[in-house]
Amino acid sequence: MSPLVAHRLQHLPISSIRKLIPLSDKAEQDGVKIYHLNMGQPDVKTPQVMIDALKAWDTNPIAYAPSGGTKEYIDALKQYYHSLGFNTIETKDILGTVAGSEAINMAMYATCDVGDEMLVFEPFYSTYKTSAKLWNVNLVAVPTMLENGFHLPPKEEIIRSITPKTKAILYSNPGNPTGTVYTKEEVKMLVTIAKEHNLYLISDEVYREYSFVDKPHESILQYLQDIPEQAILIDSLSKRYNLCGARLGALISKNADVIKGSLAFAMSRLSGGIIDMHVGAQLTKVPAGYIPALQQEYKRRRDTLYEGLKEIEGVIVAQPEGAFYIMAQLPVEDAEQFCIWLLEKFRDNNETVMLAPGYGFYADPEKGKQMVRLAYVLEVPQLKRSVELLKKALQQYR
Ligand SMILES: Cc1ncc(COP(=O)(O)O)c(C=O)c1O
Repeated sequence: MSPLVAHRLQHLPISSIRKLIPLSDKAEQDGVKIYHLNMGQPDVKTPQVMIDALKAWDTNPIAYAPSGGTKEYIDALKQYYHSLGFNTIETKDILGTVAGSEAINMAMYATCDVGDEMLVFEPFYSTYKTSAKLWNVNLVAVPTMLENGFHLPPKEEIIRSITPKTKAILYSNPGNPTGTVYTKEEVKMLVTIAKEHNLYLISDEVYREYSFVDKPHESILQYLQDIPEQAILIDSLSKRYNLCGARLGALISKNADVIKGSLAFAMSRLSGGIIDMHVGAQLTKVPAGYIPALQQEYKRRRDTLYEGLKEIEGVIVAQPEGAFYIMAQLPVEDAEQFCIWLLEKFRDNNETVMLAPGYGFYADPEKGKQMVRLAYVLEVPQLKRSVELLKKALQQYR
């Protein structure tokens, strides 16, 4: 590390997912076929109407967009929330962001001062750690268990982690990395806790459409009247429309100060991508069948991977209810070493499989040592082959 570099730069966590990429690059250069279950990068096609809008772009020069998003983009988002029945969402409540990642950064910056605490449910989306480090927020992890599908612990247990420094509760629903979809009772409990302890409640719903339970998704937007000042939604088009590279998201809140302050944050990067926003604004024209087809496809994938993993000796999994991830406990001492071995050593017909080590999703890495996250972002036949590879690999490794 250069002696001139800031001390804090050395303490930014490196994603456990991306850390292994040089090893997979090397294996691929050597001609090995890798089944990538390591990243939440969906393989489904972006809606054609969006691709058409991209191809038809002819405004020259390519200008800055307004910092909080173009009118076209914000109007489309508003229409989307209204179509879900959240008719109270107004233009003033929506801030366009550079995808969900920026909305996470903004939400942390808006709700916590240096040294404040934010509750998260462990295991949690690893990028929360990086954002917390950036803003010097202390994440306080409330454990959830594989045995009950990573659902929330009782209210008393959550409350026990609240201190005078606690400012917010942050959760993802459906969850990354767990695939857990919180019930109405669970979301209501969080709303009650937020109300009783005067905390912000930040719900990351970038996987809203990826729910396989037979009840409607319980959005924080249903509770805007209960906690208008405290409810914050993090949203993104990345997964919903397979637009990961377009960097489109939103921060939604009825708290005018949160939106106003976050707009100042947005001004520091002047603008999001104006072409991206034009593409995203086509969401109102996406055929009605696009999302249901996506749901069916991912349910098939979920079933294939879950059923396959259950059959492997020593692997412990809970059936995920949404998003496109499974957290699995493997019969190995150190899952990261196993993931490295898969990339460096294991070959079956010159093929291997890539997984994300689970420790990156835990505040205490020791707790996630035997865990891996698998993203079912491949088609069913490839998932079947991935399970076969994992089964053979575990037999060999032991
Ligand atoms: C739970 C969760 N929130 C937010 C994001 C951010 O995604 P993006 O920045 O592409 O919107 C992701 C991406 O994987 C995620 O899994």
